[in-house]
Amino acid sequence: MRLLKELFENNRAWAESIERRSPGFFSQLAAQQAPEYFWIGCADSRVPANEIAGLMPGEIFVHRNIANIVNPFDHNCAACLEYSVDVLRVKHVIVVGHYGCGGVRAVIEDHYRGKVGEWLAPIRAIYQKYEARLHSDARARWDALCELNVIEQSAAVCQSPIVRQAWSRGQELAIHGWIYSVADGLLRDLNVTAASAEEADAAERAAIERVLAQAPI
Ligand code: CO
Repeated sequence: MRLLKELFENNRAWAESIERRSPGFFSQLAAQQAPEYFWIGCADSRVPANEIAGLMPGEIFVHRNIANIVNPFDHNCAACLEYSVDVLRVKHVIVVGHYGCGGVRAVIEDHYRGKVGEWLAPIRAIYQKYEARLHSDARARWDALCELNVIEQSAAVCQSPIVRQAWSRGQELAIHGWIYSVADGLLRDLNVTAASAEEADAAERAAIERVLAQAPI
């Protein structure tokens, strides 16, 4: 029980299956990582980055937290963004939210407390900003806030000094906002993709209007 034997057995079987398919896989990977993608997603156990995107170890750099929040005061997320853009030189940063996000629901239902409550403050601000224009149906409201959260967090990535500096020195870098459905296993693009500061502002505004337009009061 204390040693979680099953997980070690799983791990051994997994490593062996990869080595069988690609001999030398791990020794080559040990030399360097050169991922093209940086994934910022929810920590939810149903939303694993590599599996959803069909990527192998070494192909995607990942940061996950509760409700995929990009808060400039969060050193963890900022350090991951800085490292992925400045050192790994990823070509894509992807913010991935998901429908059915418990963090987003906690904001709507107003039952946040402790550290999680503090952490969710940026989503509370988003909810307050758009609350009056969201659908009265509870599920539609929840879905829309999950989408708005992705749009606002990808906008926060676009506004970060790390990304602004990369763009101003001409580095090839696109920011994306996607949403995943735990109910069907599929990703959906929220069309906020931006490869420049100008593109980012226009894409954010258009995406927010699209979400709100689907939500008659
Ligand atoms: Co979530």
